[in-house]
Amino acid sequence: MSQEQREVPVIEARGICKYFGAVTALEDVYLKLYRGEVLGVVGDNGAGKSTLMKILAGLYPPNAGQIFVDGKLVHFSSPRDAREMGIEMVYQDLALAGNLRIDENIFLGRERVRRFGPFQFINNAESLRRAKEHLDKLKIEVKSVRQRVEELSGGQRQAVAIARATAFDAKVVIMDEPTAALAVKEVRKVLDLIKDLKNHGIGVILISHRLDDIFYVCDRVMALFRGRNFAEAPLAETNRNEVIGWIMGNRSPVAQAAKIFDLN
Ligand SMILES: Nc1ncnc2c1ncn2[C@@H]1O[C@H](COP(=O)(O)OP(=O)(O)OP(=O)(O)O)[C@@H](O)[C@H]1O
Ligand SMILES: [Mg+2]
Repeated sequence: MSQEQREVPVIEARGICKYFGAVTALEDVYLKLYRGEVLGVVGDNGAGKSTLMKILAGLYPPNAGQIFVDGKLVHFSSPRDAREMGIEMVYQDLALAGNLRIDENIFLGRERVRRFGPFQFINNAESLRRAKEHLDKLKIEVKSVRQRVEELSGGQRQAVAIARATAFDAKVVIMDEPTAALAVKEVRKVLDLIKDLKNHGIGVILISHRLDDIFYVCDRVMALFRGRNFAEAPLAETNRNEVIGWIMGNRSPVAQAAKIFDLN
């Protein structure tokens, strides 16, 4: 039985179009993500990957198309709307405040924090305890949650950004090039963290130009080409050369057949 028959996607996009003036960033794009699935999204520069993710995360409204969360049609007018439905995005650089502590970053700007008192006052001991508990759950190692984020390595920062994204019942975590700026040994840690999210039932969308990342961690890979769906396959049914071809706009006969099969 295919996954499709078994369950409703945790997030689904149908017929998404996005135009920036005369530029067509996305044209009639479809995407499905299931619970506990890691979906790799690949494509050349300008293929529309980041734009699609920003639409799923509520940062941009689409010009056309629909988004469903757990099968229900949703309309996001801000990232806050998406977050309230459990859709989180980890941005490459802008996610964290370097001058704040790890725990403060995790709880920054969260509704729940406000419950601790007036004036968005954060209960210090509670925030430290919960931050530590959450990092432990994700097996993220830092010297102390009191460390300032600017003292961390790139990989640790990325891990804290992922911790922030998952601290409040996320169902979907979208990551746009999370390993692009990392040293080799830090890359593996972030990818293992993604596997861990998967094991906790979270759906992950991973944009990466690094096929090593894609083939290490993803269950399925989809390629966009010039703003359109181009090809997709479970990882076990494709290989690096084929995926490189998709990125360049070449489809092998096998992939074409798979796509036709998918549509039926
Ligand atoms: N805010 C914007 N204003 C105008 N054009 C934009 C904007 N964002 C994206 N675009 C255009 O939309 C198209 C898709 O861009 P997008 O950033 O989604 O590509 P990408 O697949 O993420 O590329 P990369 O791999 O380089 O990150 C490009 O032609 C880009 O120039
Ligand atoms: Mg991009």
